[in-house]
Amino acid sequence: MKICLLALFSAVAVFADDPSTAPIQPIPFSHKQHTVAAHLKCNECHKMPDPGEIQTIPKAKTCMACHQTIKADGPDIKNLRGYADSNWPIPWIRVYEIPGFVNFSHKIHLDRGASCQTCHGPVAKRDRLWRETDISMGGCVACHQANKASVDCGFCHDLQH
Ligand code: HEC
Ligand code: HEC
Ligand code: HEC
Ligand code: HEC
Ligand code: HEC
Repeated sequence: MKICLLALFSAVAVFADDPSTAPIQPIPFSHKQHTVAAHLKCNECHKMPDPGEIQTIPKAKTCMACHQTIKADGPDIKNLRGYADSNWPIPWIRVYEIPGFVNFSHKIHLDRGASCQTCHGPVAKRDRLWRETDISMGGCVACHQANKASVDCGFCHDLQH
């Protein structure tokens, strides 16, 4: 993509202190319930396949390992079972998503000592997630400056095109 310096000044805040900005998800999944009450670790659900650029969101079938029995008769779990049986992906509304023209790797940041909480806030305390931290360009650049990592345009953007 073409990079235009003027566009830098049009950057808007895309994160908020306001839980009411949390999207209504197709199934009311709670991170708090699953990490605190069900004692699950982040990486038991979010696998990071090689080369570690992305985290993945588990399939409904994975959830059914527990929900075959836990709360199996509730309406939300019946809904979940429908996705698992049909193998249809659950249409989760993405919370943290950056455009495809930005280079980003989870693994590199985790290897440098960042934690999930650094970039996603206190997920384990949340019933619903919203975009509560700044992963806009300004947010990335601020942390790169603080950690003496490069802020060259070409570090995060492919300038060949
Ligand atoms: C390790 C077992 C386990 C896994 C895996 C698991 N859950 Fe749960 N889930 C629980 C437990 C325990 C509760 C709390 C049940 C209670 O309140 O008694 C729960 C509660 C829920 C509820 C609330 C149900 C209700 O009727 O109150 C939903 C919805 C839910 N889970 C969705 C999911 C989804 C979606 C996944 C997969 C991404 C998933 N769960 C994976 C154990 C699990
Ligand atoms: C039981 C499985 C499960 C566990 C354990 C779990 N997650 Fe999730 N996570 C999900 C599901 C399902 C979604 C999609 C629904 C949502 O956004 O709430 C999700 C969404 C997310 C998202 C938003 C992704 C996006 O861009 O939409 C982040 C960030 C996240 N999880 C971080 C974490 C962290 C950090 C932990 C550990 C503290 C964790 N998760 C533990 C299942 C899980
Ligand atoms: C340095 C910041 C940073 C750290 C640390 C971080 N994330 Fe992310 N995460 C992001 C960004 C940026 C995205 C959006 C990526 C995209 O859209 O390509 C994202 C997206 C996600 C998603 C959605 C799926 C995906 O990969 O696009 C999940 C789930 C997630 N993160 C979970 C986690 C978990 C779990 C941890 C800790 C093990 C973690 N993240 C650590 C910045 C971070
Ligand atoms: C918690 C602080 C922090 C945040 C937030 C952060 N970064 Fe980084 N990033 C680093 C550090 C530290 C390095 C390692 C620099 C090095 O090794 O020279 C790095 C490295 C990178 C690299 C180089 C990867 C490679 O191939 O070596 C890219 C690309 C990158 N970050 C993009 C991003 C983007 C895009 C965002 C925002 C979505 C972001 N970063 C947010 C601290 C951060
Ligand atoms: C540390 C990573 C990083 C660096 C360095 C970086 N960018 Fe970005 N840039 C991003 C991210 C992340 C976005 C996407 C923000 C969003 O979610 O909209 C972005 C978006 C953009 C956009 C799209 C418009 C906008 O504001 O969203 C332009 C244009 C852009 N960057 C130009 C540049 C230029 C020019 C430089 C060098 C001066 C630069 N970027 C350096 C991470 C970076």
